[in-house]
Amino acid sequence: MSHQSTLTVTDNRTGDTAELPIENGTVSAMEFRQFKTSDDDFGLKVYDPGFKNTASTKSAITWIDGEAGILRHRGYPIEQLAKQSTYLESAWLLLHGELPDADELQTWEGRIDELTLLPESVADTISTFRIGGDPMGMFVSAVAALSPCHPEAGEVEDGENRALQIRRILASVPTIAAFCFRRRGDLPLVYPERGSGFVANFLEMLFAGTEREAVAREASVRRAVEMLLILHIDHEQNCSANAMRAIGSSGADPYLSLAGAAAALSGPLHGGANQRVLRMLEAIGSPDAVPDFLEKAKDGKRRVMGFGHRVYKNRDPRAEIIKTMVEEVFDAVGRNELIEVARRLEEEALDDDYFTSRKLYPNVDFYSGILYQAIGFPAAMFPVLFAVARTAGWLAQWQEMVEDDEQKIARPRQIYLGPDKRDYVPVKER
Ligand code: CMC
Repeated sequence: MSHQSTLTVTDNRTGDTAELPIENGTVSAMEFRQFKTSDDDFGLKVYDPGFKNTASTKSAITWIDGEAGILRHRGYPIEQLAKQSTYLESAWLLLHGELPDADELQTWEGRIDELTLLPESVADTISTFRIGGDPMGMFVSAVAALSPCHPEAGEVEDGENRALQIRRILASVPTIAAFCFRRRGDLPLVYPERGSGFVANFLEMLFAGTEREAVAREASVRRAVEMLLILHIDHEQNCSANAMRAIGSSGADPYLSLAGAAAALSGPLHGGANQRVLRMLEAIGSPDAVPDFLEKAKDGKRRVMGFGHRVYKNRDPRAEIIKTMVEEVFDAVGRNELIEVARRLEEEALDDDYFTSRKLYPNVDFYSGILYQAIGFPAAMFPVLFAVARTAGWLAQWQEMVEDDEQKIARPRQIYLGPDKRDYVPVKER
């Protein structure tokens, strides 16, 4: 074994020493099991709440250099995909590893277009939800409601079957999202129209017959939504991708796994952050109020929503791209004045030692909500849009997990700190 690619560990409890192999900059956690204080000792475990330094998988889908602010999918920089690709082409790339040729792309788009209509039972399920209710909760439930319609989806080892379910999910989520939006607003459902294009059809199902109908048909709005979908398409082993893989690792079907991933996304520290960003900017109210707000935000008890990231310790490249789109979209849909508050907040925070010393920069959610609001989406829909976009990433992560022979059911260990054995005392004697 080459000494450059090993780690020598000495267990000071016993004096035992072992040389552990380092592969891909990683030491296998199982290697630590050999360190024991006695024969009946379980062996050393590693403790890592929140998986801050644990690689749970090998992956070839997405690469992030958080220190340098770089994001690539299958090697392609996010900046190039956002500007030049389409959402469905990028989805193919994530799932297949290469960009499609013209024929492959046309067939792919056509086969997804065929599957955009939802089973009647799923549309009925959505129509039972409370008007005005949270569309993210509706979305999670409706994705799960697809599962009983497609019992064959449980055959996860069958590659062809998997590919069909993947196409069906990609085709269904915009329809589900739009139906949830319309149910929330007590609007009649608009059914998908074949042949109109993925994004145009999505916007039509959302806004047809509403006051934003004309705005949603603007070419710059369609392009902005396409870019936003691409920017959110995947982000390697984040909370929701990890949920997708963990649920899928038990053999659950992809509808149920994806419902769980979407539930993980809904939280305010993950995909729910852009809603909170908007609420925060509205509460600040004007650029002049920013310095006061920031002073209060530095007490360690509150968070500036849309700032900071587990992986990026530099500018989030997605936030930079969204920032450059803002004015173009405003030209088509009208200005969202909250942009001035956001810009001042970014400027002041990046000039403040509290934020710079902790490497807290604006993340993807900081500017996306301002754009979504300008287009006409209520804040409650922001996580749903994130979920529609992230669906391709979740499916690619799930597929990679199913095809990976090294993957096992996700089942972490714990450090038990509870009481030792004690005897049950009947209630009357307590
Ligand atoms: N505002 C103020 N302080 C912050 C913030 C923030 N947004 N984020 C982190 N900190 C501070 C935190 O208090 C801690 O300070 P100290 O060392 O003095 O205790 C330090 O920075 C490190 O924070 P952490 O909680 O250990 O970092 P983490 O990697 O566990 O958290 C995060 C990452 C994204 C959950 C966090 O930065 C956060 O809560 N941000 C706001 C919510 C947000 O915008 N989430 C969207 C993330 S991007 C989209 C997505 O991937 O879903």
